[in-house]
Amino acid sequence: MSRVARKEQSARTRKDWERILEGIRGTITYEASLQSYTSFRIGGPAEVLVEPADVDDLCRVVAQAHAERLPIFVVGGTNLLVRDGGIRGLVLSLRQLKAIRQEPGSVLYAEGGVGMPTLIGYAIRRSLAGLEWGAGIPGTVAGCVVMNAGTRLGEMKDSVKAVRMVDPKGRVMDIPAAEIPFSYRKAHLPRGIVAAVWLQLKPGAHDQIEKTVKEYLQYRKITQPLTLPSAGCVFKNPPQDSAGRLVDVAGLKGARVGDAQVSEKHANFMVNLGHARAADVLALIRKVRAGVKKASGVTLELELKVVGQA
Ligand code: EPU
Repeated sequence: MSRVARKEQSARTRKDWERILEGIRGTITYEASLQSYTSFRIGGPAEVLVEPADVDDLCRVVAQAHAERLPIFVVGGTNLLVRDGGIRGLVLSLRQLKAIRQEPGSVLYAEGGVGMPTLIGYAIRRSLAGLEWGAGIPGTVAGCVVMNAGTRLGEMKDSVKAVRMVDPKGRVMDIPAAEIPFSYRKAHLPRGIVAAVWLQLKPGAHDQIEKTVKEYLQYRKITQPLTLPSAGCVFKNPPQDSAGRLVDVAGLKGARVGDAQVSEKHANFMVNLGHARAADVLALIRKVRAGVKKASGVTLELELKVVGQA
């Protein structure tokens, strides 16, 4: 962001914001700590955080922000590092968009704020198969679509039937999956916000689906540090290799900057031991990338999204 834009954004008074956000039914918080909105539990504040009450409310916020030429940032829990200076301007969280329902033909409709664990539980109860790969992923449906989240067992693109987006002017548009190019950890969507998604699942045997999910969760519990705050995998896997393996063989498991540590359990995770700052995580990332480059010649690419001001 340019200095001029930053100055312009922070120049808004409470009165300006109240006018811009008039009629919004959701929750509005000024100087909101974003720590509880990220699985890393790290990050500075949002100047104004809005949690729209439903998709209509989301459209309204976006339209009103558009009328003011105000940029919007959407915070989605995992795979995100908010820098210590936080995010100036308008930040949205889709936490209150939690509707979920089954539609004919083994289709689930889920709003963007539905958590993957909730979605998978819902699919198991209805004996619908196709999302087992996501067991243990803590993110929201919207976040998982945007980054085409996946594991060795599958990825989001395998199930997406259509995506409901709110465009930059605040209008709803439904996009069929056939019109969305997906690549490794990215859905190439038009500009806008993912408000909901339709997932095409398959009827399956309840016990088998539940067994697969449990086994996969067990594998993750054994191999990943699920009890400490983290942002999931920090680096993308390079073709035909594993970033975790590369960090491990470079001898960096347990490496630490402040309270940020390369997990002892899985080297592609960084964990927050208590009071890690974003600056600590970024310094640790530099250290790990340099170590891996030196040990194996590979330049690791970030899977983690870094946002906000230092
Ligand atoms: N390995 C090590 N040391 C480590 C970690 C891993 O040697 O510290 C080795 C393992 O022994 C194994 C190989 O690396 O031979 C692969 O490890 P793992 O099965 O844990 O899978 P991964 O490739 O490291 C991917 C996803 C994870 C997902 C797991 C489980 C990416 C970048 N990572 O990890 O996704 O949970 O598979 O299916 O695609 C995430 O996206 O945030 C994430 C954590």
